[in-house]
Order: sequence, then structure tokens, then C-alpha cells
Amino acid sequence: MKNIVLFASGSGSNVENIVQYFKFNPKVTITAVLSNNKDAKVLERCNKLNIGALYFNRSSFYEKGLVRKILRTLSPDLIVLAGFLWRMPQELIQDFPDKIINIHPALLPKYGGKGMYGNHVHQAVKDNMETETGITIHFVNENYDEGAIIYQAKTRISPEDTVQAIANKVQALEYEYFPKIIEKLLNEG
Ligand code: GAR
Repeated sequence: MKNIVLFASGSGSNVENIVQYFKFNPKVTITAVLSNNKDAKVLERCNKLNIGALYFNRSSFYEKGLVRKILRTLSPDLIVLAGFLWRMPQELIQDFPDKIINIHPALLPKYGGKGMYGNHVHQAVKDNMETETGITIHFVNENYDEGAIIYQAKTRISPEDTVQAIANKVQALEYEYFPKIIEKLLNEG
């Protein structure tokens, strides 16, 4: 049995997609979803999906080591950041080497770094008149969006595409590939 812990800060549509994907897989459990935002829609989704969810604040993450203790107890095979917007503390990265992955809604190394999330990314892609964008799934290190790349998928975009249209294309790639890459990493680990 492999177990996954998910981190999310916002809507959690990727969390829901991942939960649905593994629902009928007896070898994979989503042990918990952890969020830094007590008003996040992801917490509501977890309630409906019957997945244990927990909210933590900044000091329990960065100072008191509470999240670290929880993770040590849960001992996940993989920690998946699915729309999680805080930087991971160094000690967590040390505790779980090559076991923390993130998804970014652009083709890194372009359009990464602090403040680059959600529609900020898609707006920048549009402003630069890119002809393609996509998703990057990568290992997490102490810098935003800089760990080794595991997988990228691309989609064409045109100048007529609105930010929302770009977001929709990227989201479709996220839903299609993120669970498959998670499954692949679990099988390899
Ligand atoms: C996703 O598009 C994910 O790639 C992005 O946040 C969104 C979360 O959507 N992550 C980042 O921007 C990280 N820098 P969701 O809450 O509906 O899954």
C-alpha cells in the first residue's frame, strides 16, 4: 500500500481529480489533505469526498514544526503539492528527499518564482505573446519552482485566447497528466 499526502491552498480541483483517479485503486490511499488556508474550497471538497483534511497556520509550518511532526507520523510515500502557494521549509525537504512534487501551470523555467501562480502566470504568458504553454511537474527544493523537472506537457495557444481560455487548456493538461505521473512515481518508488 502506498500513501499520498496532498497540500493545497485554494480551490482544490486537482486534489479532487487525484482523489477520483485513485478511488478504485486498492494500492493507493490519499491519507490526508493539508491546507494553509482555512477558507480554501479544497477543505469543502475534502468533506464531500470523505478525505481527512487539516488546516495549519504559518507558525505551525515554519516555526513550531507541527506539520513536520504530522508528516513524520503519516510517513507518506509521496507528498504532492497541488496548488500549494507557500515555500516548503528546508527540514521537510530533508525529511522527504525526492518525495515532494509540485505542479506548475507553465513551462518552467519560464514563468516561475514567487507570485507566479494561477492567472498571474497565464496573464504573463499572454502578455508575452507565447505560442505555447503547458504544465511542469517537478521535485520541490527550497526555491520556488526550481527543482528537477519530472514531466512537461505542452499546448498551443493563439493571440485570440483569453487568460481564461489559456487557463482552461492548462487545466485540461493538469487533469490528464498529474495523476498518471503520481502513479508512475509511486510504482517506481
Ligand atoms: C493549478 O493550476 C496549479 O498548477 C497551480 O495552482 C492551480 C491550483 O488549482 N499551482 C501554482 O500556480 C503553483 N505555483 P486547483 O486548486 O483548482 O487545483
